[in-house]
Amino acid sequence: DVSHHLVIVANRLPVDRVELADGSHTWRTSPGGLVTAIEPVMRHGDGVWIGWPGGVDVDVEPFTDNDMDLVPISMSAEDIEGFYEGFSNGTLWPIYHDLVAKPEFHREWWDSYVAVNQRFAEKAAEAADEGATVWVHDYQLQLVPQMLRTLRPDLRIGFYLHIPFPPAELFQQLPWRRQILEGLLGADLVGFQLPGAAQNFIRLVRQRVGHKTHRDLVYLPDGRTVRAAAFPISIDAAGLEELARSESVAARAAEIREALGNPRRVFLGIDRLDYTKGIYARLRAFGELLEEGHFDVEDAVFVQVAVPSREQVEQYRLLRDEIDRLVGRINGDHGRIGSPAISYLHSSYPREEMAALYRAADVMVVTPYRDGMNLVAKEYVACRYEGDGALVLSEFAGAAEELRQAWLVNPYDINGMKSALLEAYGADERERTRRMRAMRRQVTQHDVKAWAESFMTELADVGTHEKDVR
Ligand code: G6P
Repeated sequence: DVSHHLVIVANRLPVDRVELADGSHTWRTSPGGLVTAIEPVMRHGDGVWIGWPGGVDVDVEPFTDNDMDLVPISMSAEDIEGFYEGFSNGTLWPIYHDLVAKPEFHREWWDSYVAVNQRFAEKAAEAADEGATVWVHDYQLQLVPQMLRTLRPDLRIGFYLHIPFPPAELFQQLPWRRQILEGLLGADLVGFQLPGAAQNFIRLVRQRVGHKTHRDLVYLPDGRTVRAAAFPISIDAAGLEELARSESVAARAAEIREALGNPRRVFLGIDRLDYTKGIYARLRAFGELLEEGHFDVEDAVFVQVAVPSREQVEQYRLLRDEIDRLVGRINGDHGRIGSPAISYLHSSYPREEMAALYRAADVMVVTPYRDGMNLVAKEYVACRYEGDGALVLSEFAGAAEELRQAWLVNPYDINGMKSALLEAYGADERERTRRMRAMRRQVTQHDVKAWAESFMTELADVGTHEKDVR
């Protein structure tokens, strides 16, 4: 086994092993924003990525993909139930997303979370060179920093949370709140999407754990310093734009519009099928606009891509049923032969197809109730190299702090969303390009490479100056 100077630890590997109907298997890009961001940073580098390859009891040897060294960690059916579907996605996910759904608390789920975090920490300890940097990612692995520090005090450890960090009032509900805070404090640098999240964390550490804090620093009794700060994540904007400019993507975008019946405006939503994303509310708003006669299917169609996600979790199944029913109703009421009002696709697609969809869309609709950042919004902007296209964006996505020129909406306010959809639908070219050009400056200047570099620079720096401050 070769050891590495940079070790990425995340619940998922960048590729997901999927079982095909005939019993064989294939590898696909894993879903979600974490992989979208980290994969381009790690590609062609000399680091290693430790994570779950997807599936039950998938026991594969370390391998190389896209020039990345990958170390798979196998998960049993019990791990998946307790650690992944249970504590990570049935307890933490809803609490960290403002209780959009009701969290469940089960002591067996917590036990499984501890055990699986310990396994990740052990794998990372094995893979890391003397004095190496280990970068741990996201809410599934919040105990890893502390566990890893115990195993390997020589390491530099960073942690990044890709999702929101809740206000103290919500976090406090967690029966294991103290263990989670202490787990995170094993890192030298704890990164968040937004400054408010870092402040929530610092306040909790002071109040719940009783450590001394000053601004963004935590002083531990053993003399170590931990820094908590915001690093808003981004995408490989130039890489995606290059793909969007390719002839094959342009041709495919034209084909998509043609297949949709060449409507005046194409609305687009792309999300994991998740209750935080506000898919139901946005489709309802669109349906009401049809109902009220603001446009018909010759004027406007909605393409909604819902990437399958966490399908064994009850709340995700219920959501799927609700959306299926709503789409059926709207298409039944407003569709024509060969022209549904909503083209609903429950599937994941390769990057090229996504780029073609972004190119084909006049109005991108991103309406989460709560979202750490939302990289789909940034991807749309990166693909609009002509400076045209409208973005309707929830105020409750982290991206709204950067993409101020979007049509910002409150997804709980259906009438407000209807107005924003109509405005974006009717906006003239000057208005659209004025807004899009400003957003493009933001996205191209703050790409994921800059994000990773600033995190790494800060990580190397923590603890080297502050001693005097104490
Ligand atoms: C979000 C999370 C990631 C997660 C992804 C996909 O982006 O922040 O940690 O990997 O969703 O979810 P899944 O449960 O399929 O890994």
